Amino acid sequence: MIIDAKEKIDYNELSKAAQILRDGGLVAFPTETVYGLGANALLREAVDKIFVAKGRPQDNPLIVHISSIEMLEMCAEIPDKRVYKLIERLWPGPLTIVLPKKECIPDNVTAGLDTVGIRMPSNKIALELIKLAGVPVAAPSANVSGKPSPTEAQHVIEDLFGKVDVIIDGGKCSFGLESTVIDLSTSKPYILRLGAVPFSILKEILEDIEYDPSILAGNILSVPKAPGMKYKHYAPDAKMIVVKGKIHKRIEKMKEIKKDLETNGHKVGILCFYETAQNFESQYKIILGSMFDYKECGKNLFSALRRFNHLGVDYIICEWGEFGIEYLALENRLLKASAYNVIEVL
Ligand code: TXA
Ligand code: MG
Repeated sequence: MIIDAKEKIDYNELSKAAQILRDGGLVAFPTETVYGLGANALLREAVDKIFVAKGRPQDNPLIVHISSIEMLEMCAEIPDKRVYKLIERLWPGPLTIVLPKKECIPDNVTAGLDTVGIRMPSNKIALELIKLAGVPVAAPSANVSGKPSPTEAQHVIEDLFGKVDVIIDGGKCSFGLESTVIDLSTSKPYILRLGAVPFSILKEILEDIEYDPSILAGNILSVPKAPGMKYKHYAPDAKMIVVKGKIHKRIEKMKEIKKDLETNGHKVGILCFYETAQNFESQYKIILGSMFDYKECGKNLFSALRRFNHLGVDYIICEWGEFGIEYLALENRLLKASAYNVIEVL
């Protein structure tokens, strides 16, 4: 069943979806970050279905979505005031907090860890759905494992139609990048996944916060602390090459690579910014956004990768530069999508 909630929420329909969710079915729903594939987080069998539908490795834990502080306290221990400090500023919103888990959360939600990642989404449909279901909702991104995360209902339909009970269409996601995951289960606050809440904002709230440096390195150097960060991710069908450097140098290099590949008969896509787009002659050119607007670029990234799949290109050449700290989450997704296939031009 597909529920159209793009214009307004029909509470009759949403109640039906909530009932299905509570009873152990799978419901894909919009959040402000990406679409989630939800199951009742209290039912082991329901949670198992998520792993099957997505083809997700069993050792990758799920985020539990909640709609109230009571639900938070039911699912996790609150070790200290840092948690309330963060949620006061950033919930509901795109921040996931990893905390010691409580008994009611089955092991398959947390992949056997004694911690659980929790977030209260700000998307109205998501919040209302969880409220109506009356239970915490375990939900990874609603894509087949390894594919770009879904930022429109159409992406969920492409990946999961026939494998889930309900898909709720809430239009385009406003952030388009997943939530920031932060670990507060130990004394030192640590960012496990960069995401929609920029590092700079978290630093304002918790001064001693750091991020896992392996996030921006190839996974050869170190093993990331969030289990999910180690997997192949966001992969488009084409081979992706990130060309990183100063603007004129990278444009020159991209043109050179494009020419070589095209001479060899390949179909080459270009992922660029508004400001640089006129430098590239191509019918397979997609503009990510303005290079001065990390939010716009973040919002468009995953749908751009999916569009390249539809265009059927063999290669995607993507540009990148030295940008501010707010761009780190986006850079992380690009690097992962390219399997760390980066050419740096100096
Ligand atoms: O924005 C989002 O976070 C979206 C929407 C649907 O909320 N969800 C999402 O879920 O991106 P998923 O499963 O695709 O990514 C969850 C990430 C993974 O990297 C996972 O390893 C990490 O969070 N994670 C979850 N629970 C954890 C835990 N207890 N300890 C460490 N990492 C955890
Ligand atoms: Mg995911």
